[in-house]
Amino acid sequence: MTHALYPTFARAPLSFERGEGARLFTADGQEYLDFAAGIAVNSLGHCHPHLVEALTEQARKVWHVSNLFEIPDQTRLGERLVAATFADHVFFCNSGAEALECAIKTARRYHYASGSPERYRIVTFEGAFHGRTMATIAAGGQPKYLEGFGPKLEGFDQVPFGDLKAVRQAVGPETAAILVEPVQGEGGLRPADPAFLRALREICDENGILLVLDEVQSGVGRTGKLFAYEWAGIEPDVMAIAKGIGGGFPLGACLATEEAAKGMQPGTHGTTFGGNPLAMAVGNAVLDVVLEPGFLQHVADIGLRLRQGLARLVDTHPDLLEDVRGTGLMLGLKARIPNKDLIAALRDQHFLAVAAGDNVVRLLPPLTIGQAEVDEALQKIDQACEAVRAAPAAQGAA
Ligand SMILES: Cc1ncc(COP(=O)(O)O)c(C=O)c1O
Repeated sequence: MTHALYPTFARAPLSFERGEGARLFTADGQEYLDFAAGIAVNSLGHCHPHLVEALTEQARKVWHVSNLFEIPDQTRLGERLVAATFADHVFFCNSGAEALECAIKTARRYHYASGSPERYRIVTFEGAFHGRTMATIAAGGQPKYLEGFGPKLEGFDQVPFGDLKAVRQAVGPETAAILVEPVQGEGGLRPADPAFLRALREICDENGILLVLDEVQSGVGRTGKLFAYEWAGIEPDVMAIAKGIGGGFPLGACLATEEAAKGMQPGTHGTTFGGNPLAMAVGNAVLDVVLEPGFLQHVADIGLRLRQGLARLVDTHPDLLEDVRGTGLMLGLKARIPNKDLIAALRDQHFLAVAAGDNVVRLLPPLTIGQAEVDEALQKIDQACEAVRAAPAAQGAA
């Protein structure tokens, strides 16, 4: 079938007309419970009134002016992120991959500015996912994303996730940084051991290299802290974020300490769209809600309840489900049947989830869900499992 769009996506045969909270509705009024949240993007659910108001109010004022001019709300969002994190400076862009590009450039440029331009290599981890640009597919190192795109961008040394010995061996006189996701998302919901993250921090300090975190998926409240690194009691030098900070509006950012950002002088990096007034209005509105007292505790509590319910389902369906993975509201079910089949069965129950590596089904609901949605989700997953089990028998009988 010919189609106007690049056939790069294996799309489900489903489209939605509108959304509200954790619900999506098709044009003919069918309702779906959305635990995909646009792949961990709709952090406050669909059409959160505060976000709708912020975006529409800004839309009536000015949409885009470029970074040739001051953008007061960009300064404001930058200052708020700085106040809430380890960072001293923020660069705004439009996506996770762009945030990573900025992080990689910041790390390389730091050593250039420090008089060590030979330090450009970055240690990364197996199972990582950092995006689809030329640099981020090289950083992620997954052959399926690199194949056919010419020479892999040089300078990434990949080691097994969690293997400190391998990290120490990989760090050499040309190393600029270590890049890691505190919770691997696409790689199958694998949280890094807090002790591992602390050891990476130490290795960076011992070697004068930068710790760069990819919190594109784990950030902005998803794990029950504003950023997942807080669980380990460490601070990075550089961090890429996106997804949740825009609540559905394309928005990414690279955060860095004063020292780490010292090479990023005027003219070294840029963007036309990044940090535009529409994105900044929404980013500030997301922070208004996520930083409200009690919000992050809610994520931690409701995440725990979802996790406990999922663990019960693993006990009930040991033939189909192997394990619960992840933390906060960044959870996954490792399946014993192909994860795509389970996702299709869930969709039949009007429940949306996302595939991940290692045969995991990702559950990334809006951070605003309550107990009623957790109960409904557990019921739908249970029903999907029953339906999967019944299917071969039904086919056999036909
Ligand atoms: C951890 C992580 N890093 C980077 C990216 C890339 O983000 P984007 O698709 O917005 O470029 C993703 C997207 O899934 C991600 O999960």
